[in-house]
Amino acid sequence: MFDYDAELVRYHARLMGAVDIKPDARVLDVGCGTGQTTRAAARAAYAGDVIGVDVSTAMVARARRLSTDEGLTNVAFECGDAESHWLPPGRFTLAISRFGTMFFTDPTAAFTNIARSLRPGAPLVQLVWQPAERQEWATAIRAALTPGGSAPIGGPDAFSLGHPDTIQAVLTAAGFTNVNLIALHEAIYYGPDVVAARDNLLALPAVTAMLPDAPAARDRTLQRLEAQLRDHQTSDGVWFDSCAWLVTAHRASGQ
Ligand SMILES: C[S@@+](CC[C@H](N)C(=O)[O-])C[C@H]1O[C@@H](n2cnc3c(N)ncnc32)[C@H](O)[C@@H]1O
Repeated sequence: MFDYDAELVRYHARLMGAVDIKPDARVLDVGCGTGQTTRAAARAAYAGDVIGVDVSTAMVARARRLSTDEGLTNVAFECGDAESHWLPPGRFTLAISRFGTMFFTDPTAAFTNIARSLRPGAPLVQLVWQPAERQEWATAIRAALTPGGSAPIGGPDAFSLGHPDTIQAVLTAAGFTNVNLIALHEAIYYGPDVVAARDNLLALPAVTAMLPDAPAARDRTLQRLEAQLRDHQTSDGVWFDSCAWLVTAHRASGQ
């Protein structure tokens, strides 16, 4: 399983630093993955509760294990598509997402579902990637995997909310107001060394989909990938540049 917690260590700090989680908060974590943000929210909302929703059964199973291991009793995980998964209306005082909202088939339907689950006036605070061409990780790794190719690594969906006009329009149509974007620029981490970073990346279906089937071509592709990772090796591990939006919006009061 790809290690998003390690990859996003710096963005995690930015997101958690941007949200004000009251002790009695009721928090929804959208596309929660293995639940690092869900657990952090649960620790802050010690007199409230947190629900993490993710479409991946494997991620949710791991999220449940990790929160049980930590002894958290105010957190639950539900497996479902945020677009259609039933969420209790007007229940949550805050929704958060760390790069879990860019993959919806129908973003307006998904954000409408999220908006309805929030109390009027309650915030949604999320991180989304800026466009692919601003991502060193996406362009450099794609260049290694498919020289001359144009499809961005991470799949086109990873950048679906990259343009401010798009996110503004989608959130407004879904019943949010006061949409505010802050540009963030942070490095992301793939592993302590080239081999660990390569193996981590090979856990991403978007990466393995770009590997040729023929063994010799596959070996050459992996060598190019390793060379690219070597170029980004520092004394502190393998890092690439990236740009994200920290997006805050509030459920419109009249909704
Ligand atoms: C880039 S990962 C981020 C996971 C987690 N938020 C984190 O930061 O570690 C994106 C997550 O969104 C989830 N996801 C994608 N589409 C979804 C959908 N329609 N509804 C709920 N979760 C979804 C994926 O399963 C995945 O766990």
